Amino acid sequence: MSKSIVITSGKGGVGKSTTAASIGCGLAGAGYKTVILDMDIGLRSLDMLLGIESNLIYDIVDVIEGTVGLDDALFKVDRRENLFLLPASQSTDASAVSPYDVSAVISALRDRFDYILIDCPAGIGRGFRNATHDVDSAIIVLTPDTVSLRGAERVKDLLKMDGISDVSIILNRVAREKGVSTDECVNRMACPVLGFVPEDPHASKCLAKGISVLESETDSGDAFERIVRRLLGETVRYRIPFDTLIHKFKTHFGKESACKG
Ligand SMILES: Nc1ncnc2c1ncn2[C@@H]1O[C@H](COP(=O)(O)OP(=O)(O)OP(=O)(O)O)[C@@H](O)[C@H]1O
Ligand SMILES: [Mg+2]
Repeated sequence: MSKSIVITSGKGGVGKSTTAASIGCGLAGAGYKTVILDMDIGLRSLDMLLGIESNLIYDIVDVIEGTVGLDDALFKVDRRENLFLLPASQSTDASAVSPYDVSAVISALRDRFDYILIDCPAGIGRGFRNATHDVDSAIIVLTPDTVSLRGAERVKDLLKMDGISDVSIILNRVAREKGVSTDECVNRMACPVLGFVPEDPHASKCLAKGISVLESETDSGDAFERIVRRLLGETVRYRIPFDTLIHKFKTHFGKESACKG
């Protein structure tokens, strides 16, 4: 049965699109037919993150307006079997579509795909409502700082009010120096943890090359590989980047997790 997952955050620039591209590549690599729906209408980025920006013709707004059929707008990512992108429009904004329009698109995608990943724009306005209206579960991406944590808590409350209870978190850009400790982020969010991704100087190189972080031979690529395995229900030991020995000892050297996706 098909599953729709929104990747959201509240605060901008924390790594939602990076996460969507990496999880999409990982699920597709594991044999699941996967589509990433770029809902950042007006500010799309997934085409660049997947290295296909010059090849796109149609987008989700064309589908909703009935200019083209869904199959015409779905773009197959050549280098990755099973991976498709439904691009956002670059020339309009979130008000061009309604949550009900997006629901209709997601319903149509359910017959064609195992996983539908929805890349949510920053904020909690119309774009957020469009992206979260008809999803089975949510992944909140946050970085270890007070502003991101506050945004993530707010988004979690909004998702709960909308009846979305299957919510997990990814702590991204975990560096040696953190504004807020990983423990505090995890305790305050009080949701299953899908994984911890280190701050990685190669992330911008991946972007320049048009490959996802997961496809790179880096620690953050490994972290996303483990995240995909947890999403698929596997029990995978946590690795907290830049963790201290004392903390590892206190937390029983990285507990295991089988966070169900
Ligand atoms: N683990 C990481 N280490 C270093 N840089 C990262 C990491 N994850 C993401 N980035 C960088 O952070 C920037 C923002 O990432 P991304 O576009 O994925 O965020 P976003 O949440 O989708 O942003 P927006 O809210 O604008 O849609 C990009 O330059 C990306 O390469
Ligand atoms: Mg984004």
